[in-house]
Amino acid sequence: MTNQTLSPRTVADSAMTLSTLMQPIHSNSLGNVHGGVLLKLCDECGGIVAARHARRPAVTVTVDSVTFDKPVRIGQLLLIHGRVTWVGRTTVEVELHVETEDLVTGKVEHTNSAYFVYVALNEDRRPTPVPPLKLETEEERRRFQEGEMRQSMRLARRESRESRGLKEAGRKA
Ligand SMILES: CC(C)(COP(=O)(O)OP(=O)(O)OC[C@H]1O[C@@H](n2cnc3c(N)ncnc32)[C@H](O)[C@@H]1OP(=O)(O)O)[C@@H](O)C(=O)NCCC(=O)NCCS
Repeated sequence: MTNQTLSPRTVADSAMTLSTLMQPIHSNSLGNVHGGVLLKLCDECGGIVAARHARRPAVTVTVDSVTFDKPVRIGQLLLIHGRVTWVGRTTVEVELHVETEDLVTGKVEHTNSAYFVYVALNEDRRPTPVPPLKLETEEERRRFQEGEMRQSMRLARRESRESRGLKEAGRKA
């Protein structure tokens, strides 16, 4: 089955914002929010967006272009905005745009960005086609093209890792 037989879904159909108050339990040794906590929450938000688009369970296959632009402080409200930027046959790329809101001043700042890629699974836990993405704006079309380029680079990296692995296995044999 190809994904062309499934009804297309828009970016807005699955987009969401996950908001969480940053508490002492989220802290690193410097007293800011631990990077691993931010990645876990991004994966949670991205996984929901991907599963909403696919209407299937979705697993993370790779994480791309993560940035930590500003520290996140304890006591701030974390806002993770997730939206589908690109889909392949069984893959969904989700852009995570992370902001903090100071609850006292109301100031909102961008702190992190990332692209998480998910694979939708069927009942046998094998990759299964996802609906095409219905692009509604020029901005969405631009993001989709950029996602396609990122995916080419990800697959090239995977191929080079795999061929390195094969060469190393050959040396050991
Ligand atoms: C995700 C998983 C099911 C894919 O299995 P697989 O045998 O590699 O499947 P395929 O080779 O058929 O690839 C499936 C899709 O993933 C894409 N893919 C695989 N590896 C990728 C990578 N490193 N980067 C980007 N895309 C990748 C393929 O291009 C293909 O996309 P398409 O169908 O849209 O063209 C398997 O790798 C897996 O189970 N990984 C562990 C997932 C996990 O535990 N995540 C953490 C917890 S959620």
